[in-house]
Order: sequence, then C-alpha cells, then structure tokens
Amino acid sequence: TSAQIGVTGLAVMGRNLARNFARNGYTVALHNRTVSRTHDLVKEFGHEGDFVPTETAEDFVAALERPRRLIIMVKAGAPTDAVIQEFAPLLEPGDMIIDGGNAHFADTRRREKDLREQGIHFVGTGISGGEEGALHGPSIMPGGSKESYASLGPMLEKISAKAKDGAPCVTHVGPDGAGHFVKMVHNGIEYADMQLIGEAYQLLRDVAGYSPAQIAEIFRTWNTGRLDSYLIEITAEVLSHVDAATGKPFVDVVLDQAEQKGTGRWTVQIALDLGVPVSGIAEAVFARSLSGHTALRDASRGLAGPKAEPLGEDEAAAFADRVEQALYASKIVSYTQGFHEIAAGSEEYDWNIDLGKVASIWRGGCIIRAAFLDRIRAAYDARADLPSLLSDETFAQEIAAAQDDWREVLVAATRQGVPAPGFSAALAYYDALRADRLPAALTQGQRDFFGAHTYRRTDRAGSFHTLWGGDRSEVEA
Ligand code: 6PG
Repeated sequence: TSAQIGVTGLAVMGRNLARNFARNGYTVALHNRTVSRTHDLVKEFGHEGDFVPTETAEDFVAALERPRRLIIMVKAGAPTDAVIQEFAPLLEPGDMIIDGGNAHFADTRRREKDLREQGIHFVGTGISGGEEGALHGPSIMPGGSKESYASLGPMLEKISAKAKDGAPCVTHVGPDGAGHFVKMVHNGIEYADMQLIGEAYQLLRDVAGYSPAQIAEIFRTWNTGRLDSYLIEITAEVLSHVDAATGKPFVDVVLDQAEQKGTGRWTVQIALDLGVPVSGIAEAVFARSLSGHTALRDASRGLAGPKAEPLGEDEAAAFADRVEQALYASKIVSYTQGFHEIAAGSEEYDWNIDLGKVASIWRGGCIIRAAFLDRIRAAYDARADLPSLLSDETFAQEIAAAQDDWREVLVAATRQGVPAPGFSAALAYYDALRADRLPAALTQGQRDFFGAHTYRRTDRAGSFHTLWGGDRSEVEA
C-alpha cells in the first residue's frame, strides 16, 4: 500500500503528528535518521492505524503516493536544510515538502523559492499546541501555494483541532512564508500572554498578599469569565502544584530564569524591521532575558526601593478584581499589536492574510487558544479592514470600562516597587494612541536643530527647516 502522507523526524512532535494522521485513517510512512525510533513507534502505536516504517530516504519516498506529501519535523535551521537537501533530489514536480517546525519565515521564503524552481511545493507550516496538540489536534498554519493546500487542506482539516463551533483550526494562511510568519507572531503573543499572567501573579502575591494556592483559585475563577483560555487554565494548575521533595509551592522551587527558543525574539526583530510597535511583546521578551542575567540581578539586589506591604483581606479581594481588569485590557493591547504585525507582514510580502481567519484558527488547539479569539474573529468579520483591534467598538468599550482599574493597578505596582512592564507598556501604548498630540513634534524639532533633518507643519504641506544657527527664520526644504 502507498502512504498518503509521510513524516520524517520522529521526535515527540513528529511522532504524535504521525499518530494523529494514522488515527484519522491515513496511511502514514515513517522515517527517522535513527532507525530504531521508527520501529519503536510502530511497536508501541502500530495498533492505532496504518504505518509504513522505512529505513532509507529512498524507501520513504517510494512509500508515498503521488503527488507525494512529506512532512519534515526536525529542528529549525541547519537540520531542516539538511533534510531538504536529502529528500529534494528524490522528489518529482508536484510533490510537496511540508515543514512543520518553528522555522523563521525568511528561511521558509528562501526554501520555497529554491524548491519552486524544481517544481516542488514547499509548505512552511506553523503547528501549535505542543505534544498534546500534535496528537489530538493542533492549530495548523500552512503557507505555500494554493495547489498544495488543495491537496493537503482536507487532511490537515481532519487532524486539526476544532473550535467550539466545529470549525477546523487550519486555513491556507497565504503564500510562501505566511504560515510561519503567523506562527511566529502567535508565539510572540504567547510570550506576551505569559508575561501578563506572570505580572498578575506577582501583583496578587506581593501587593495583595495571596499564596500561590489562593492565586490558583483566583485564576480558576477568571477562567470562567472573559479570560477563559488555555494559558490561564494551566497557570492555575502550575500554581496549585506542590513540590513533592520540599512540600513547598512548586513555583517557589523553580529557578526564576525564563528561557526562550527564539520565536518571541523574532517577532520583535521583525516588528522593528516593519516599523510596528509591539511594545508589549518586546517587554515580554526582555523580561525573559532580564530574568536570566543572574550576575546583574545579584549585583542589583541591594538597590533602594519600597518594601511591598500586603493589603488587608477586603482590599486584597478588590485589588484582585482590578488586576483582572488590568490583565484583560493589557491582553487586548498585545493582541492589537500582534495583529498589526501580521497585517504589516501581509502588506510587505503581498500575502493577503485574512486576519479574521487567523483569529478563527487560533480558537482551538494552540497555546493561546481562548474564548477571547472568537471575539477578535467577530471584530474582523464585521470589518475586514479594521485599522486596529482597539477601533472595534466592543473592545474599545471594554478597555474604557477597565482603564480606571488598570491605572490603579499600575499605581500600586509603582508605589510598591513591583515590576509590571507588560501592563505598563500596554497602557502607554493605549495612551499614546489616543493622545491628541505626541512629543514627536519636539523630536522633529530636535532633529531639525542638530541635523537639519526637516519637519512638516500642521498647517501647510511641504518640508521645512528652521535656520537654528542663524536668524531662526524658516525655509522650505
Ligand atoms: C506552540 C509553542 C511552541 C514553542 C514553545 C516554546 O505553539 O506550540 O509556541 O511552538 O516551541 O512555546 O517556546 P519558547 O521556548 O520560546 O518559550
């Protein structure tokens, strides 16, 4: 029998993805550099469906029906290029290579272009949801050609997560690197969500004086409301977990140095290139890097600051409600920024990405899945050219209702010396956007003063320069 799909790279994500295809009735060819892994999979999970284990690249390719669909699930970067180089010569025009790793979209664009010359479809595909998602239904963000989606789409729709309304969490995001770009921004938003949740936790702990177990309960309550999401849900799980060895809250025995594999950082790097302010996401990335600077932190522990004084019981409960408002408002801002970046990327690379569809396929399966995304989808469905999520009436009203509490939380954080860079960057973004006038006018004046960089005026068209070193008259530039 020939396989409808093949997976090479059978580490946990590849293995679970292969099982997911098999469990959905597809015949799946398997390949891994270390052959034992292939056989282990069949031994352990062979009963789940039809697998065709292969040992060589040639056999793997031969096992696939044509046009071939070959998924590579290896580490991003050089290992991905190596696998492509191994398989591309064995393929024929019309075949598809699907890269399901966390590749940088610029690499995906390069690979897609190279392989296109050979007539091979390269389908850079973002896959989110971790191990469990890969097995039970991830959110899938394929880029690449329309033809490739026509062939792959139905299979991906079958194995993907389904949103509450039953819609599959997969769509053809756009050509070449569009899928990996959207996955990158997904991860940037994931970082921001995690940072905001972290700040909420820290404030509930240091300002409100709650224990991790109590905070877990608060998150559980929040999870029944508008913050209903996977990340809030697992936060409650992590916070209520007790370390077996010490009997202490698990969160107190984990080293407070957050790691990162790079996708959040890329989101910020690309935003800088595109000129998109993603300050909330940037603060989340910086917060992780700051946490890892142990020497710097050790050298700074003696610096002066207020000592956080926990609130009384009643005040604490009221404060927790405020934190929920601050978290929600900040979350709206980080999604606003993330969607702005996707819109800008789409424009820059001519991808024609449907933002409502992106929100829609993030509703299930992925790490940032949340009830909230249904509302973002609705906002873009109501108006596809929405200039910003903040210009959606419902979100604008919610932020308006949250803003007093949001500000109060930041006042408390500032007064008590608890860092809340995510909340604070989000509020600054909000206030800057709604400002009548920004100090950018002064910046322009300074630039003109020291470098004759010119400025535009509010009352007349054209570019101008003031003769700062002379009689300070104005000339047209
Ligand atoms: C997902 C995740 C996943 C990512 C992890 C770890 O969507 O399933 O985004 O792709 O690898 O979240 O990322 P960091 O190591 O950078 O935190």
